[in-house]
Amino acid sequence: MQKDKLFKKFLLSLYAPVRALTVIMLTASVLYGLSGLFKQYFLKNIIDFGIDGSYSKLYLNIGLMLGFEVLGIIFTYVQNITRCIKIFRKQTPYVSEKSFMLATKNGYSFFADNHSGKICSAVNDITNGVFNLNKNLSTHFLVLIATMISNLILLAGINLIIFASAFVLFVSIIVIRIWFFSKKYNPLIRDAQSLEFEYNGMLNDALLNITSLKVYNSIKIFSENLKRKKKQANSNVVHAHKNEFTFGAIINIIYVSVFAGLIVFSISLLKKNNISIGSFVIFITSMIALKNATTSFSWSVIELNTLLIKLKNAHEIISSKNEDKDSHLPNINISSGSVEFKNVSFKYKKDYVFKDFSIKLQSGEKVGIIGVSGSGKTTFTNLLFKFYEPEKGKILVDSQNISEFSSDSLYESISYVPQETLLLHSTILENVKLARPQATENDVINSCKRAEIHDFIMSLEDGYNTIVGERGIKLSGGQRQRIALARIFLRNSKIIIFDEATSSLDNNTEFKVQENIIKSFKNQTLICIAHRLSSLKKMDRIVVIEKGKIIDEGSPKEIIPKYEKVNFNDEI
Ligand SMILES: Nc1ncnc2c1ncn2[C@@H]1O[C@H](COP(=O)(O)OP(=O)(O)OP(=O)(O)O)[C@@H](O)[C@H]1O
Ligand SMILES: [Mg+2]
Repeated sequence: MQKDKLFKKFLLSLYAPVRALTVIMLTASVLYGLSGLFKQYFLKNIIDFGIDGSYSKLYLNIGLMLGFEVLGIIFTYVQNITRCIKIFRKQTPYVSEKSFMLATKNGYSFFADNHSGKICSAVNDITNGVFNLNKNLSTHFLVLIATMISNLILLAGINLIIFASAFVLFVSIIVIRIWFFSKKYNPLIRDAQSLEFEYNGMLNDALLNITSLKVYNSIKIFSENLKRKKKQANSNVVHAHKNEFTFGAIINIIYVSVFAGLIVFSISLLKKNNISIGSFVIFITSMIALKNATTSFSWSVIELNTLLIKLKNAHEIISSKNEDKDSHLPNINISSGSVEFKNVSFKYKKDYVFKDFSIKLQSGEKVGIIGVSGSGKTTFTNLLFKFYEPEKGKILVDSQNISEFSSDSLYESISYVPQETLLLHSTILENVKLARPQATENDVINSCKRAEIHDFIMSLEDGYNTIVGERGIKLSGGQRQRIALARIFLRNSKIIIFDEATSSLDNNTEFKVQENIIKSFKNQTLICIAHRLSSLKKMDRIVVIEKGKIIDEGSPKEIIPKYEKVNFNDEI
């Protein structure tokens, strides 16, 4: 129930910038549908006055019918222009931005648990879904309702028995068809879309891992898996359609039988002069129009239903782990940059990564953290960034508990070079500027110089405008790492974390970059995570962790000789 309410609220919010335009679009559709009523009415008069030989009335009715034809054209034009140009231009980018923002409000675990392809499809489904919703509502649903009402009014004007029979026939057809189809179809559509999301996720995953798939000759196996997934997704829809077509055939036989009965009845009325020829013709055309309109209307409702299911499903996915529970919290003010973990316990799933873990970093202190793979170094960063909440204990920055402040304000003062550097499919300039979008080109160049990457960039044909490829694939691991480091030099953060940030650099470049780091960040608190002790020579203190516990700490002079022979590259 809560989910339904949230979805309705979300869907309505997508119309915020186009409310007036939507009203115009829908009104034009209804008016277009209703204009049919007058056209048919004047057509009846044309036939009757033609037979009577009342030519002045005949011309008047021809004129009126053509007038309504023109009005119909105007209403269609207004509807099309409003929907395809005005609403499309304003609403589509808005929906895409809103869906993306909603997806990004999810906690870190959401992105760890879901294929990026699946999230992408959900965002796309919402953007395309809203466009199709507008199309269906204005070109089918409302026009068809107005058309059906118009034709029923015409039949009521001809004969009440005909009207009542047609009303019962067509309303039953619609109700039964929609009820039957929704019952059978809704669950299938939901499943088919979930499979479609998985399919897109697999496809995206394959493309991200294309090198591994190629070198292990796994493309064929993977493509077979993809085909299977697609078949599964399609089989649900095929099954639903098969049922609907059989059902449609039975309904049509009932319609033809009732229609035949009504024709016999109306001929008897005609013979007794109870109805005019014009009315007889309009009865026939209205019955045919009603039959077509009810079939199209049922499909329109089924399609609307499908669209809403898909939109709801996509909305559920992108808001599934919406952990934006902290944007209402006050902003944290970090002036000195001290960090303290106080009796922190944390686990991702079953096993604790930290149990009662405590550490204190003075402001401006440079602390190296070393430990074998899986000991909890990156998790330490994840917790400090509020990517995950500790189960117990407190994390204090400048003596303030970070759980009481908004994440966004925390990110203003903490910077991070992650263990794996992935770049945006954009230019080097844009990639560095990500850290401070208002930075000048000169600022970017200075940062790149300090990250020891400027000379390399200048050696490229397009310099800072070189496109780095998806995830930065066109650069070497060390070059990517230095671009990530350049971002840090562009910001003025109080606390900076380097998670294996120089691990891909050769010894000489690593030494130069570290010199620049120490020189540039004299007053900042630095946390350098590493596997190699040699990377931590310039630290004030080195902390050795194992299975989420501090097993030793001291100055580099004390720690380095003691652990020189330990291989920190092994896994726990
Ligand atoms: N998102 C996650 N979900 C579940 N378990 C995770 C997740 N991230 C890390 N872990 C587990 O938590 C433990 C600590 O991982 P962490 O990444 O902190 O290690 P690390 O010390 O940074 O290792 P490395 O030196 O290899 O980078 C590991 O056992 C890891 O498998
Ligand atoms: Mg790590």
